[in-house]
Amino acid sequence: MSKRMKICINTGGGDAPGLNAVIEAVTMAAHNRQWEVYGIRSGYAGLLNTDEIIPLTPEKVDGIASIGGTILGTTNKGNPFMMPVANAAGEIEQRDLSDRVMENFRRLRFDALVAVGGDGSLEIAHRFAAKGMPVVGVPKTIDNDMGGTVITFGFDTAVSIATEAIDRLHSTAKSHDRVMVVEVMGRNAGFIALNSGISGNADVILIPEIPFDIDRVCDKLMDNELHGRKYAIVVVAEGAVPKGGGVVVKEGATGGRQHVVLGGIAEHVAGEITRRTGKDSRSLVLGHLQRGGSPTTFDRLLSLRFGAAAVRAIEEGRFDHMVALQSPDIVLVPLAEALQITKRVRPDGDTVQTGRDLGICFGD
Ligand code: F6P
Repeated sequence: MSKRMKICINTGGGDAPGLNAVIEAVTMAAHNRQWEVYGIRSGYAGLLNTDEIIPLTPEKVDGIASIGGTILGTTNKGNPFMMPVANAAGEIEQRDLSDRVMENFRRLRFDALVAVGGDGSLEIAHRFAAKGMPVVGVPKTIDNDMGGTVITFGFDTAVSIATEAIDRLHSTAKSHDRVMVVEVMGRNAGFIALNSGISGNADVILIPEIPFDIDRVCDKLMDNELHGRKYAIVVVAEGAVPKGGGVVVKEGATGGRQHVVLGGIAEHVAGEITRRTGKDSRSLVLGHLQRGGSPTTFDRLLSLRFGAAAVRAIEEGRFDHMVALQSPDIVLVPLAEALQITKRVRPDGDTVQTGRDLGICFGD
């Protein structure tokens, strides 16, 4: 008979629809092996202050797979290797508290941690693995920018929400002969903008991987007008950049791992369109709506498959790896390998080409 394990799970970084489904799958797969499972609250905070550790039972996770967010809470500011702590003079300084995390992990006699997160959280997991913690990663992000896996959970839900919003914008844009510029998330990757823009029949899609020229965008809108289409939908990724320019950031907002909060490019693009073409334009930012609510069936199933595969990886002793979709299979990829890859939209890939074939302008 295999060893009765005592494992724990945490969720780190921005939330993504499907986190609760991973928690449910890990809990159930462990329970069905007669293992004990504990949830660490707020990323690694629960391993610094161990009051934040809760036992996970089938009753506690019953039905949570369909609920958005994470019952464990999350943070994108909780890196134990660089924790902001007030010193004696009251000034905030960065301290390495990773040894305290290791001590608590060992004292509580955990056999393994399932770390669910994006590249920032999985980088932390990899550093703990180097210190001797048996860790299995589960990749999550709505941005879909994690290497080593075809897709991360949360992405499909975000794209569905953005597509539905774009669908709704068509009728109001058409009624007013307006240009609606909609900003979607994705950080420095344009996957959400690309997939929702093509699916939502956008006229223009602007993504970080293809720097745009605002004149090309205006040419497209004027050309549409000549052909009788007086309204337009422009989908812009929050990280899109004009040729020779930089990203637009929200001044004064405090970010997580990358210390800047992107936002404002839609307003800028809408303003330029009005200034250059005289067309009435409006901008809107979908923001965190894209991360809220129930995961799509695709994300729910992927999250459940990821969670169960993480437990199998623990059983097989395959640590310092993350579960990944390499269709149609769930496989294990070394964290070191996955973290080396920066996944971005390929400007020469078939999805961008599909957009071009449909007549969508990418601003280049
Ligand atoms: O990485 C996920 C993401 O939603 C990005 O698309 C976005 O830029 C960022 O997180 C927003 O972070 P926050 O929740 O800190 O505003």
